[in-house]
Amino acid sequence: NQAKESPEKKAAGIYAASLVKDGDAVGLGTGSTVAYTIKELGRRVREENLNIVGVVTSYQSEMIAIDAGVPLTSLAETPRLNIAIDGADQFDENLFAIKGGGAAHTREKIVSMSADRFVVVSDPAKKAKTLSVFVPIEVMPFGRALVMQSLKDIGGDPTLRAAAKKDGPVITDNGNFVVDCTFGEIKDPKELAAKISQIPGVVEHGIFMNVDEVVIGNADGTVEIIKL
Ligand code: A5P
Repeated sequence: NQAKESPEKKAAGIYAASLVKDGDAVGLGTGSTVAYTIKELGRRVREENLNIVGVVTSYQSEMIAIDAGVPLTSLAETPRLNIAIDGADQFDENLFAIKGGGAAHTREKIVSMSADRFVVVSDPAKKAKTLSVFVPIEVMPFGRALVMQSLKDIGGDPTLRAAAKKDGPVITDNGNFVVDCTFGEIKDPKELAAKISQIPGVVEHGIFMNVDEVVIGNADGTVEIIKL
């Protein structure tokens, strides 16, 4: 996920780190865009004596934060966060977003809902008029057959996500499976979110309705900020 440098993601990621203030508790999302934010926060801690604590959303962001020297805490110790910053797979003009391309959306949703301000960092390609990418759904392994059938019943086309370097399914940081489900154009994300949440065995879906603002980075280092 962190393979090649992206000037767009870098511009968005670094700008978002400037929104963090001294004394803040910060939710640290997962993925290649927010990785730039976490590294920049580490730089600010080192060079500007910025006093913050982070809460991670995955083992990946934990490793990046430790490497960057960002002090960490947990939601158990720090239940309310001043700000959370995270990437997304796609977002629309109402700032509904789809997340979970990296299978981290359950913790990302918990962390972002624990924050007073939720900022998404993105490159320009993720902006869409209507959401249409697959919806990642974390599923308790015991319930997978019911979940797959129920997703078909509500018009979805579900696939169990396979692991890249292991035979068999992806196992999330929480020990669950991920089902990626396409629904074509998602006209009413709120309604779809409610339907998916009702299926027993669904741990969490990747439709986010709590984004406050999106920072879109451009290749020339500038950013565009979208707020509702
Ligand atoms: C992780 O599960 C996702 O929600 C990521 O936040 C999302 O996939 C964005 O990743 P990139 O910043 O790598 O595009």
